[in-house]
Amino acid sequence: MGKYKITVLPGDGIGREVTEWGRKVLEKTGEIFGHEFLFEEGLIGHAAIQATGDPLPGETLEKCRRSDATLLGAVGDPVYDNNPSLKVRPEQGLLKIRKELGLYANLRPIRIFDQLIASSSLKPEVIRGADILFFRELTGGLYFGKPSERRDNGNVGVDTMIYSREEVSRIARKAFEAAQKRRRKLCSVDKANVLESSRLWREVVQEIAPDYPDVTLTHMFVDNAAMQLIKNPLQFDVVVTENMFGDILTDEASQIAGSLGLLPSASIGDKVGLFEPVHGSAPDIAGKNLANPMAMILSVALMLEISFNLQKEAQNVIRAVEKTLEQGYRTRDIAGMGGENLKVVGTVEIGESILRNLLNQ
Ligand code: IPM
Ligand code: MG
Repeated sequence: MGKYKITVLPGDGIGREVTEWGRKVLEKTGEIFGHEFLFEEGLIGHAAIQATGDPLPGETLEKCRRSDATLLGAVGDPVYDNNPSLKVRPEQGLLKIRKELGLYANLRPIRIFDQLIASSSLKPEVIRGADILFFRELTGGLYFGKPSERRDNGNVGVDTMIYSREEVSRIARKAFEAAQKRRRKLCSVDKANVLESSRLWREVVQEIAPDYPDVTLTHMFVDNAAMQLIKNPLQFDVVVTENMFGDILTDEASQIAGSLGLLPSASIGDKVGLFEPVHGSAPDIAGKNLANPMAMILSVALMLEISFNLQKEAQNVIRAVEKTLEQGYRTRDIAGMGGENLKVVGTVEIGESILRNLLNQ
């Protein structure tokens, strides 16, 4: 019987409709297992800029710090696209919350549900059984390195990829620990043939490897990793990599899972965790009952597992999603090619089906 305080940040676009279902799944889980989940909402992204001028108001950060976990929808709005003169942008809110809460490890599990093998654009024999856990470094690297600026009257743009020993070792240790609980394989992805920060990365990972003698460590260059991921995803167990490399590789890897609409993520550090779907705000389908709430609901499962150590409850959520897929319910993004008797429905119908399945297992 636990009592947990959760900050909900719906953000922009489909963020609101999917977080709504994340919250309902938590409420239902609470009813079934006798826990109490208390929710408090906060502003982030374009919604926050409109209301306060700031993509991450201090009040939002305070709420997150006071709570046991944060659930985030998505940030981003098309008014900023192709408009570099707008200096305050929704994404700054996301980057800042990651940095301020010290969320240096972003876990992105990639798994293909049997029911969806046919809806991936990759061949069934290539992806069947794929199960990869990405550790994307989230508060350093190319995203945060200084200088990041314009020079020479705006004619030169600079970003910096920079890592310290400490930044590499703390995420590498988390990845090694996760590998110990899985198939005991860790692949560290870098570009050590070209980049100095990658040479440091590789050196540090190698130095701490002897502390995890049961884990087999390999290294791969990021360009090769991009290719190997779709050539033979089954070779990977846990992957650890730099911020930008991880951003790109996990979008690519979403195709192994069938759709970005299925990919959950957990951002953790040493304190409070943040849980969000990997997909963005998808403004084109916002408010049309088309968004797939599964990535959000699977993010809730990660929250139950990682922040609250409620393993049974987390499994119950994952199983409910699987059942909904077995029953043939699909949003448009995963309606794909395969399957018989599919029911292509909206956000609400998927959400309701998952709620029913939470109870009937
Ligand atoms: C992600 C997103 C963000 C990122 C954007 C919205 C800033 O693509 O979470 O993967 O690049 O980290
Ligand atoms: Mg991304």
